[in-house]
Amino acid sequence: MSLPRNFLQLLPMAGHTRGNRDAMTCHFKCGDACAQAVCNTSSNSYFRDIADKAMSRRAALGLGGVAAAAVVVGPQIANAPSASADFGGFGKGGGKLPFNAIDPVERTVDTVTVPEGYDWAPIIRWGDPLFHDAPVFDGANQTAAAQEQQFGYNNDYLNILADRGNGRTGVLVCNHEYTNEYMMFDPAWQAENADEARRIAWAAHGFSVVELKRAKAGQKWEYVVGGARNRRITATTPFRLDGPAAGSDLVKTVADPEGLTVLGTNNNCAGGTTPWGTIISGEENFNQYFQGRGTAEEARYGIGTGAPSRGWEKLDPRFSAQNPGYENETNRFGYIVEIDPQDPTSTPVKHTALGRFKHEGANINIAADGRVVAYSGDDERFDYVYKFISKGKYREGDKAHNMTLLSEGDLYVAKFSETSAAEIDGSGAVPSDGAFDGGGEWLPLVKNGTSRIAGMSVAEVLVYTRLAADKAGATKMDRPEDVEPNPATGKLYIALTNNSNRGKAGNAPADEANPVNGNRDGHIIELTERGNDAAALTFDWNILLVAGDPAVSDTTYFSGFPPEKVSPISCPDNLAFDSRGNLWISTDGAPGKIGYCDAIHKVQLTGPERGKVEQFLAVPAGAEACGPVIHDREDSVFVAVQHPGEGGTYAEPYSLFPDFKASREDVRAGEFYGPRPSVVQVFSTRGNKGVGHAKRAAKAKSLPRKK
Ligand code: FEO
Ligand code: CA
Ligand code: CA
Repeated sequence: MSLPRNFLQLLPMAGHTRGNRDAMTCHFKCGDACAQAVCNTSSNSYFRDIADKAMSRRAALGLGGVAAAAVVVGPQIANAPSASADFGGFGKGGGKLPFNAIDPVERTVDTVTVPEGYDWAPIIRWGDPLFHDAPVFDGANQTAAAQEQQFGYNNDYLNILADRGNGRTGVLVCNHEYTNEYMMFDPAWQAENADEARRIAWAAHGFSVVELKRAKAGQKWEYVVGGARNRRITATTPFRLDGPAAGSDLVKTVADPEGLTVLGTNNNCAGGTTPWGTIISGEENFNQYFQGRGTAEEARYGIGTGAPSRGWEKLDPRFSAQNPGYENETNRFGYIVEIDPQDPTSTPVKHTALGRFKHEGANINIAADGRVVAYSGDDERFDYVYKFISKGKYREGDKAHNMTLLSEGDLYVAKFSETSAAEIDGSGAVPSDGAFDGGGEWLPLVKNGTSRIAGMSVAEVLVYTRLAADKAGATKMDRPEDVEPNPATGKLYIALTNNSNRGKAGNAPADEANPVNGNRDGHIIELTERGNDAAALTFDWNILLVAGDPAVSDTTYFSGFPPEKVSPISCPDNLAFDSRGNLWISTDGAPGKIGYCDAIHKVQLTGPERGKVEQFLAVPAGAEACGPVIHDREDSVFVAVQHPGEGGTYAEPYSLFPDFKASREDVRAGEFYGPRPSVVQVFSTRGNKGVGHAKRAAKAKSLPRKK
């Protein structure tokens, strides 16, 4: 990938991002997904065609648009361990994370913006060494050997797991979704060292596990060089393929004739922490790394026949399915992976039982009978929401047993039904019954070890899951991202980030669950499993909010909360909860949509202020806010700042976060002139004086946005 002079104009999405994100983000992150034809050309009947038999619970109860649901502690919380992060890892102190919402931040501002009373500092940056013998980062002299021992690029899913006990140690886990070679490398060097640049990119993908320490709970964490659990997983680390499709003919290659071992994980996006303390994460836009043969199955996954721009197939034949013996390599990506951050010697796993698609991530709840349920969105326009129900049951404290739960079980896909179908015209107008709402069912794809899709074996359903779900008649959604149960209530929240094609000729029209044509700013669905049991096969749903800037958009909706009293919000992506059950939303794409930096917002879910959106933070220019972690009891928020300065280049950076060097000559050892994806902690200034970057960063200039 040498850099043509006019490369920015040559990017497929240049001039076509429709005010969404930078063309460079489209190219490297998603493989220009929006420039391609919609992958889902199935004519499966979306729910508009199906008589709605389900009366929503809300309608049955006579409730209007503003729900007054009490917070009920569901059965899942009683079974949940207390220290696991997504299950109550909200910190240990007595803080409540009080804040006054910040104003939205203009998209060119190149710093992390936090509320009064808070400060921020990076915990770890791209290139920071993880091991005692790892080289100090040197952006002008990068090597693959160094990158394999350093923090990777473009951190996305994040968790901060404090160890039980004194609260002074812990571990940070995050994944590295993708690389942006135009910003990482000097183009002259890259032109001379194309293969080494590709090896560096392999090493910059995957995961990092890094030990943390701090003086006491509530104070700023620091990462530990040489920590006993420190680990890098990259695009070449062996993974065990697991579940019913492992070992099948569909996943065998000449390099792995047993179909049981895959090298590496790519494009890991969001994720979750299991009740047993492992990390699960989704291989999302894996298609862009491969050259396909032109099969229908490849097309459904967006795998093209052209040579991918990263050129990895030039270094390893497995990246082209056109190479004999590697026809199935693409079938070995697109899974939920599971890693154990406490055991650096453990072999990471790819779970075929959860199906293969562009998994945004996965999050787990525990059913009333102890089976575990993993929810997952397929982030593509008009793709689906899935859930997996394990065969085995969760056993408190039995990690070895619990680590088998995602290997065998039933797989379902969601079909939504409507209460106000006749009134949905794509305008976003709220129906006369006061709510976008309805019922729905989980349609079986695999059940009791057998395929429920005519003409497809279990292995075929799990490898070609999108095609199976087409046949089942799933509901076409507006790019499902995080699908996350609220630990306080068991209710499920689904981030639908946007869908420029909704309602366009030849595409599915608006429906009550996706009610806005050309859905620019996205929305959030709240889903309640019937009986509040995660294993239920029917559900009720309503739309919590339709995002946007109420000052300029007339399609916004906040469950009846006055729009003039909310923070503008666009492109909801990653979801998290605090210890009191408030929803926290991070965004991906707000700069181009509403003109503000991407952000993290708190949303109240119950009481008279249900639907109130309050902005807590903004990330620097060009960045996306990823993996929010809310430790409200310690007055701390953590954010993975992904692709800061995207749109700039190595020579002309568009962000200087977080080192803020005045020039290339000003760079000292371990620093970089240009943006570095980093994990940032936001903490209360009480007891954390003088350790933050807010003051220093405030001096950083806002960088002019390139046209
Ligand atoms: Fe990697 Fe769906 O965002
Ligand atoms: Ca309705
Ligand atoms: Ca995401």
